[in-house]
Amino acid sequence: MQKLQTKAEILINKEIAPGHFKMALCIEGFAGKARPGQFLHIRAGAGYEPLLRRPISVHRISDRQDIVELLYKVNGKGTQLMSRRSKGTFLDVIGPLGNGFKVPKGQSNFVLIAGGMGVAPLVALADRLATYRKKAITVIIGAKDAASVVCVKEFQEIGAKVIVVTEDGSRGDRGLATAMLEKIIGDFDIRKASLRAGPRSVSDVTIGDYAPEVGLYACGPMGMLASVAKIVKPYKIKTQGSFEERMGCGVGACFGCAIKTQRGYERVCKEGPVFDLADIVWD
Ligand SMILES: Cc1cc2nc3c(=O)[nH]c(=O)nc-3n(C[C@H](O)[C@H](O)[C@H](O)COP(=O)(O)OP(=O)(O)OC[C@H]3O[C@@H](n4cnc5c(N)ncnc54)[C@H](O)[C@@H]3O)c2cc1C
Ligand code: FES
Repeated sequence: MQKLQTKAEILINKEIAPGHFKMALCIEGFAGKARPGQFLHIRAGAGYEPLLRRPISVHRISDRQDIVELLYKVNGKGTQLMSRRSKGTFLDVIGPLGNGFKVPKGQSNFVLIAGGMGVAPLVALADRLATYRKKAITVIIGAKDAASVVCVKEFQEIGAKVIVVTEDGSRGDRGLATAMLEKIIGDFDIRKASLRAGPRSVSDVTIGDYAPEVGLYACGPMGMLASVAKIVKPYKIKTQGSFEERMGCGVGACFGCAIKTQRGYERVCKEGPVFDLADIVWD
């Protein structure tokens, strides 16, 4: 879809957890056409202060009406201003921007791993995956503490199995989402092996044998994406990661969001925000 700059009417802007807001926008001609993983570039205030727009992912997409939902955390000046905008006022937005997630044919098991606000675009993705029949979706939500865990209900309603991990152990398992990913890969290995080992012994079978069937998607801070890339590398599981780089123009003109890939520097706002993690140079 061609990107558009337009005025979006705020239908809802409500705090759903401390510092976490859900916003519903009505954007004429937009919502049914955006893809999971794409984002809007938003002028946070009513005027030009702050000057730079803020990138926020498409969180949920309505097919029938031109409604798109966002989920954002108040971080600094821009998101603070967004949180104060009231229902019935208009936001200046550009979008949908970026490439979005791909769903390759033949995959039947999906694992989604979110760090912090990485959950936001993964709900739109899970919505999309749930439209494919007979697919299993497992979501790992990693957060600092119980108060920062959002979207569990949304994923469960989609039919996904949700595993919560918090750094302080106040909800779910204590630890990092990436440690849970390692465990799941191990479990998956054993389960698949016992189902499909055939003439080979179970111990000879690795998740690598089934890698084409597994769709792994990650969204969160750079450190988490680097860890995920390291974990999946030996298994050759193709993993798409969405990057939350700081942005200037948001439309590919300033190179402010460039990251190093095997093909050279690429722009998170234009060639991304979703990249195959195997393509990223992590040094
Ligand atoms: C493609 C993309 C999609 C995103 N989707 C969402 C989303 O759905 N929900 C959400 O809450 N956030 C999302 N972010 C992050 C969001 O853009 C930042 O939180 C926001 O720009 C911060 O603006 P601010 O004015 O509130 O904070 P600032 O005053 O600019 O900064 C405050 C703090 O936020 C950090 N920060 C600023 N920009 C970013 C950034 N781009 N990524 C990570 N940290 C940043 C700064 O390091 C600082 O610690 C996304 C970022 C990208 C690139
Ligand atoms: S933010 Fe300007 S090129 Fe990406």
